[in-house]
Amino acid sequence: DLPRFVKIVEVGPRDGLQNEKASVPASVKIHLIHKLVAAGLSAVEATSFVSPKWVPQLADAKEVLRGIQQAPGVRYPVLTPNLRGFEAAVAAGAKEIAIFASASESFSRSNINCTIEESLARYRGVAAAAKKHGLSIRGYVSCVIGCPVEGAIHPSKVAYVAKELYNMGCSEISLGDTIGVGTPGSVAAMLEAVMTFVPKDKIAVHFHDTYGQALANILVSLQMGINIVDSSVSGLGGCPYAKGATGNVATEDVVYMLHGLGIDTNVDLNKLMEAGDYISKHLGRPLGSKTATALRKL
Ligand code: HMG
Ligand code: MG
Repeated sequence: DLPRFVKIVEVGPRDGLQNEKASVPASVKIHLIHKLVAAGLSAVEATSFVSPKWVPQLADAKEVLRGIQQAPGVRYPVLTPNLRGFEAAVAAGAKEIAIFASASESFSRSNINCTIEESLARYRGVAAAAKKHGLSIRGYVSCVIGCPVEGAIHPSKVAYVAKELYNMGCSEISLGDTIGVGTPGSVAAMLEAVMTFVPKDKIAVHFHDTYGQALANILVSLQMGINIVDSSVSGLGGCPYAKGATGNVATEDVVYMLHGLGIDTNVDLNKLMEAGDYISKHLGRPLGSKTATALRKL
């Protein structure tokens, strides 16, 4: 049975723009976030409070978060890798944070410069501080199917990290196929392993469309009882210098599929496409969703 409603977590302003070569002014990011919320999205990941040496594209995190007019009932999670990022996020008005661990040791090292266990220890501190301040916490596991260095990642490793994040008090665990290598079979096996520790309604799926598998992977996840999906407007995040690399699955394509299945999202596809037009024009690149590309030709 498919869910009747799917909650979409829009990650374009963060996961998308952190990977775009062009630097985008804070005012454009803020306008994009407002447009996404106006399209009906109720969770828009706004930015990251990370080291600007590691992610220069998001060095304006404070300006962006402060510049957003937060709408009632809308979530604006921001990534925080450590207590320093947490404190900066709170000072800038964050009400929800996201912590991000990996199922791959190599990726943990290259992304946050520590082992998986070190990251979990650090995140326990961040989670405790968030609880004290009454903030919600989203937990990410990256490389849930494969890692660029280690190859296939065993589902038990994903389940372990997901369980630890859940036990820290994360209200949602997002499972990221960072390099987009998953297919419905490997995704189902991974979800089954995670579901032994984390309730289905607390799991989000986060697919990148690198191999064109994202919608198939979302469908199999829905069939297994998942009802939270991460996606990125216009598929933001594709690196123009890495041939064939693509960003997150495009929100427009996810919305088109869900509405076609009779699943409600609260998202207005036309307004969503306006947000996609806006950021694509700004970046000077073609529309990154198949749906908007097709509908714009009609
Ligand atoms: P480090 O170098 O090990 O840490 O980085 P450090 O404590 O030695 O700090 C290095 C410098 O950063 C210092 O500055 C710190 O002050 C500063 P310096 O003294 O050299 O001038 N610093 C900070 N500045 C601002 N905000 C902070 C902060 N912390 C330290 N919070 C660290 C460790 C975790 C900080 C670094 O590795 C980092 O920021 N990593 C973030 C990388 C990132 O954002 N990656 C992308 C997001 S995750 C993802 O892509 C997966 C996901 O999308 C799911 C999926 O797609 O599958 C979620
Ligand atoms: Mg991602």
